[in-house]
Amino acid sequence: MATYTLNINGTKQEVDVDPSTPMLWVLRDHLNLVGTKYGCGIAQCGACTIHLNGTATRACMLTVSSVGDQEITTIEGLSEEGDHPVQKAWLEVDVPQCGYCQAGQIMTASALLEKNPNPTDEEIEMAMNGNICRCGTYTRIKKAVKLAAKS
Ligand code: FES
Ligand code: FES
Repeated sequence: MATYTLNINGTKQEVDVDPSTPMLWVLRDHLNLVGTKYGCGIAQCGACTIHLNGTATRACMLTVSSVGDQEITTIEGLSEEGDHPVQKAWLEVDVPQCGYCQAGQIMTASALLEKNPNPTDEEIEMAMNGNICRCGTYTRIKKAVKLAAKS
């Protein structure tokens, strides 16, 4: 066990965990930030996507000991009122079906638009490619990313 002071959603959070613990479990089990979901545990589905210094990152493969004082943002910290442009576009397009993958989708889309505010269809497809949706909401996801880009 070791103690880590993490910078999560703009707040310092202290956790006492094994150094090899993936951030996914630190967030969910130790900090009760359960918006970040477990899908595969091997960086293949995107359900656990968070931002690490603004870059979309798989929390299931990110060990707590590798984070240091880098900035972590989870879906809970993306906006104060759930009103990030991507979240607003998601609501307008009514993207989710079961909802399980959607936090990861939104975190990937928001990181994309932060770096590339006006992506082409191909760039959207490439960025969102690693986020699996078993409900097949891909068409609505793409529509919402384009709507968010416009706003
Ligand atoms: S749970 Fe991390 S990518 Fe699937
Ligand atoms: S909305 Fe159900 S898995 Fe994506």
